[in-house]
Amino acid sequence: VTRIEAIIQPHKVEEVKEELARLGLTGLTAHEVKGFGRQRGQKELYRGGEYATGFLPKVKLEVVIPTPLVPRVVDTLTRAARGGRIGDGKIFASPVIEAVRIRTGDRGEEAL
Ligand SMILES: Nc1ncnc2c1ncn2[C@@H]1O[C@H](COP(=O)(O)OP(=O)(O)OP(=O)(O)O)[C@@H](O)[C@H]1O
Ligand SMILES: [Mg+2]
Repeated sequence: VTRIEAIIQPHKVEEVKEELARLGLTGLTAHEVKGFGRQRGQKELYRGGEYATGFLPKVKLEVVIPTPLVPRVVDTLTRAARGGRIGDGKIFASPVIEAVRIRTGDRGEEAL
């Protein structure tokens, strides 16, 4: 079981969510976050103007998936979230040591 975190531009969320739904994912968590990358939040356009330097608003999507689906999910995220400009975001994958579906007690992939 693998967790994929994708930190993306807020205006890409709907498109990315639809593309992920098409892959048949069973769940998704979205967080409103602030962050910066290599440019440290400077000179990155936000809604047509320059945002305050430093942190910029981003959305972090989190999906926990069966590990064999990682390549497809990462490809889909990369394609759907790309605008071709700085600040498009990042994708991180990490192992999940346990997953539990609380209502049923299912564990591991069964819990997803
Ligand atoms: N190394 C990192 N660790 C944690 N979060 C990161 C890291 N790099 C980027 N992020 C998060 O991803 C967001 C988008 O990063 P961004 O796309 O600007 O990365 P970048 O390396 O500067 O690439 P680009 O040159 O394309 O802008 C940041 O605002 C931050 O929230
Ligand atoms: Mg950047």
